[in-house]
Amino acid sequence: MSAGDSMVKRNYKLGVVGAGYVGLTTASAFADLGYRVICYDSDKNKIELLRRGKSHIYEPGIEELIQKNYGKTLFFSDSPAEVYSESDVIFVCVGTPSLPDGRPDLSYIEACAIEISKYLNGYKLIVEKSTVPIRTAEWIERTIKLYNPSADFDIASNPEFLREGTAIRDFFKPDRIVIGMSSERAKKILLEIYNEKDFVCPKVVTDVKTAEVIKHASNSFLALKISYINMIADFCEKVGVDVDKVAEGIGLDKRIGTAFLKAGIGWGGSCFPKDVKAFIKMGEEVQVDFSLLKVAHDINERRIAVILDKIKKALWVVKGKVIAIWGLAFKPDTDDIREAPALKIISELLKEGAKLNLYDPKAMENTKQIFPESESIRYAENLEKSVTGAHAIVIATEWGEFKSADLRKIRELMITPIIIDGRNIFEPAKVRELGYLYFPIGKP
Ligand code: UDX
Ligand code: UDX
Repeated sequence: MSAGDSMVKRNYKLGVVGAGYVGLTTASAFADLGYRVICYDSDKNKIELLRRGKSHIYEPGIEELIQKNYGKTLFFSDSPAEVYSESDVIFVCVGTPSLPDGRPDLSYIEACAIEISKYLNGYKLIVEKSTVPIRTAEWIERTIKLYNPSADFDIASNPEFLREGTAIRDFFKPDRIVIGMSSERAKKILLEIYNEKDFVCPKVVTDVKTAEVIKHASNSFLALKISYINMIADFCEKVGVDVDKVAEGIGLDKRIGTAFLKAGIGWGGSCFPKDVKAFIKMGEEVQVDFSLLKVAHDINERRIAVILDKIKKALWVVKGKVIAIWGLAFKPDTDDIREAPALKIISELLKEGAKLNLYDPKAMENTKQIFPESESIRYAENLEKSVTGAHAIVIATEWGEFKSADLRKIRELMITPIIIDGRNIFEPAKVRELGYLYFPIGKP
């Protein structure tokens, strides 16, 4: 990315708390614009790695951005005192994972607020970037005042809309910036940071609660849209119609749009599952009927049964069969396996007694933490090895590498040429011409 316009004043020192998929992108990108940024994480190993210019997560372009700015405008710290006392604006990007009942775990956000209250040395603007339930800003404010009554600070909400795999591009070229605040001082600072030169896009300036709702409403709508096309896919399959053609036909209506109409085995990741569950909980807490989102969630859960049913139809007997699983990450161009559909498919196939050859360009190391190698699980170093001696291929993530696979050669290596395509990456007629039994989603 080119450095931002040098005309822009960059007289705020920024702190980023949490060097995860969101925090690391936020810190590196602002540093690239010319801000002095300290990125803090409570995990010392991550900071150690980052100081060596290495990233603990795979995100296209992130290591280049770190190496370009580290030591100049980008610094990594494992000291809360340093990040909080030296920053004017603090972006909170710690994780907010789901609790068993679906509510988000806000203990890391609270830990942050308590730490901040200890190191306040003058006015601070605290910006929520992590996806948090409505009214979290009020809780952060209450917590800081409880621990440090004389604290001089404002809270703002600036939700992220970064997609993993395109996070850096999404940061520099967002469709819009959403900022919610309760003071003129906070508004002035944020409009200076998100100025017209660095960010040429609409700015939605509102109050904190509205910004928090925009984030949840945005993510859950995208999840709803995907569950909608997956419901249509099941219908298409029954009536012998191609869901991708239907998606094209409806998506060309600008009111619908073609994006997020890709039928498949559903949505995973650290956001949609967590945010949809959190939003449903928020609706329940104020007695509003959010069953529309519950149905979207249930449709998504059922995608695993849909693909397993296809696998059984394709193989008849699953027990003892060798199945290559192509794709472990929840989506392409990331190593993130959080809530990845592939993980659920793997555990179900293991219960059926299958032998699995797992392959993913980036996510195998992360997957080994959950599914270590065993006599039923092997990790293949490349596509060819994953299909050698296999009775079927199950495609769970649409990596580009799979789309360009040499299916002639692949077929020679397999015992039976069967592909169950959970992401509709192939053209059915072509694959079938090559002699494969091909099972896509939502097609005749
Ligand atoms: C982020 C946001 O937190 C989440 O709300 C949004 O929905 C998705 O993006 P992500 O960046 O993926 O989540 O989180 P994660 O990759 O888990 O990174 C969080 C980082 O915060 C971790 O590196 C963790 O070590 C760090 N952390 C956590 C702290 O520094 N302090 C804490 O108290 C807790
Ligand atoms: C999402 C939102 O897009 C982003 O704005 C927010 O900040 C974080 O959550 P992310 O989860 O990184 O981003 O990836 P995304 O590209 O949205 O995909 C989410 C899931 O939906 C993936 O599992 C993907 O496979 C699935 N998906 C996406 C579909 O099944 N069909 C589609 O058409 C699009």
